[in-house]
Amino acid sequence: MIRILVAVALGGLVLFGSLSTSSCKHYPVEDIIPPVDTTTNPPPEDTLGTPCDPNVVYFDLQVLPILISNCAMPGCHDVDSHQEDVVLTSYENVMNTADVTPYDPNESKLYRMITETDPDKIMPQPPQPPLNADQIGLIGKWILQGAQDLSCDPDAGGCDTTNVSFSGYVLPLLQNQCKGCHGAVNPVGGFSLVTYQDVKSVALTGQLYGAIAHDPAYSPMPKGGPQWSDCRIRKIGAWINAGAQDN
Ligand code: HEC
Repeated sequence: MIRILVAVALGGLVLFGSLSTSSCKHYPVEDIIPPVDTTTNPPPEDTLGTPCDPNVVYFDLQVLPILISNCAMPGCHDVDSHQEDVVLTSYENVMNTADVTPYDPNESKLYRMITETDPDKIMPQPPQPPLNADQIGLIGKWILQGAQDLSCDPDAGGCDTTNVSFSGYVLPLLQNQCKGCHGAVNPVGGFSLVTYQDVKSVALTGQLYGAIAHDPAYSPMPKGGPQWSDCRIRKIGAWINAGAQDN
């Protein structure tokens, strides 16, 4: 009996799956997003930069996007608002205003504020959620490694745009670099990028790709932060072109 029920349920899922796939095919995604090369595609030798060392924290690539998204929103620590004279929009501004002591997170105001337990003092201030453990860990490790302004080429290993998944690739990136502004609570961009449905709706209108690719018809994102690497943009484009699936 149970087996029959499972078989019926699975049959329903398969039917539902094929119906929803066929309805996706009619969606004019290909008309909106420029074609993306979906093959594994190593860049020409002469464009290869320094590959990123997984043990090193890179400021522009990893730390700045977290600060831009969670702290440098309008009204907080952007250049115009500079609350408490702290501006978190570039390496120079962070080093000049956030009291960072290289090699010593606990002596660094930046680190103390994000790990504070007093709700009146912690940054970001409630109702914004605190940074998550990965983000705090990354900022702490960057300070421990000397709070340097190191850079690397995240595309140096080539770019594999096949099988880009929502849960494994797209969502973690948005959570880390966009959710501070496009979060569930009072999003400054006017809309959230928290759930699959949120992301799918801006993906299928072409806004998501236009914004990250810095197409002049859209507002460039992440707002106020460094543009994403070419490979990252192409991977998101490939996910959208494949129907922006919840995979
Ligand atoms: C510092 C705050 C901030 C961050 C970080 C941010 N956004 Fe935005 N976003 C905004 C604001 C504000 C708008 C409204 C348009 C404007 O003012 O530029 C917006 C608009 C958008 C739009 C609509 C663009 C258009 O022209 O239709 C998209 C799509 C978008 N953001 C995606 C993202 C993504 C993806 C990220 C992460 C890579 C991101 N945003 C990071 C603040 C931000």
